[in-house]
Amino acid sequence: MATPHIGAEKGDIAERILLPGDPLRAKFVAENFLENPKLYTSVRNILGYTGTYKGVPVSVQGTGMGIPSISIYVHELIHEFGCKKLIRIGTCGGMHKNVHLRDVLIAQGATTDSSIMRSIFGPVINYAPLADYHLLETAVAKARELNKPVTVGNVFSADRFYDDDVDNDRLRRYGILAVEMETAALYTLAAEANVQALGIFTVSDHLLTGEACTAEERQTTFQDMMKVALETVIAD
Ligand code: HPA
Repeated sequence: MATPHIGAEKGDIAERILLPGDPLRAKFVAENFLENPKLYTSVRNILGYTGTYKGVPVSVQGTGMGIPSISIYVHELIHEFGCKKLIRIGTCGGMHKNVHLRDVLIAQGATTDSSIMRSIFGPVINYAPLADYHLLETAVAKARELNKPVTVGNVFSADRFYDDDVDNDRLRRYGILAVEMETAALYTLAAEANVQALGIFTVSDHLLTGEACTAEERQTTFQDMMKVALETVIAD
């Protein structure tokens, strides 16, 4: 049965799914990396496709930007469509001197200022959203096999893109590598449902240097991240 936000039937969506924020990146991945991709939803222009990768059924679907948006899609994908391995393929803003434009990062943990934590946990607001360890270990191994360097660590899942109040220096000092806007919710919702989740990112802009990739690059050129994510999502 279609949900309010995903116009698909049960069985249309694979248990293994990649989740870019940008629906056009979902289209790009489906058309360039999956065999026989079929569009299963275009509700609100948030595109979702299922095909196969090396013979294994894989879906790829946009989530929109920010924690409220990804939370809607991830909830429906897990609870209505049975998704079990969810890998976000996103962009992030580099914050730390150890990461550079176009680097691939994997979020071992996702620190957040989002009110989602208060609304879920009440007083236990400092819950630590973590990557699924098995997916994390697999992704690091696949990246090594593919000879793609990756950096693993803590990201900041921010509620505000435009935020003059946040103390980036303090976050940096405590090892935050990059800022993005979704992963803390993905990890928390996956933990609750006892399914596996991971966030893999390409650094699309850098807060220290002011460098940035073009919109076209953001949509299409992050192939290292996509290969690592695809090899990871089809692994046992
Ligand atoms: N901030 C938040 N999210 C992002 C950024 C950023 O600078 N770059 C890519 N996603």
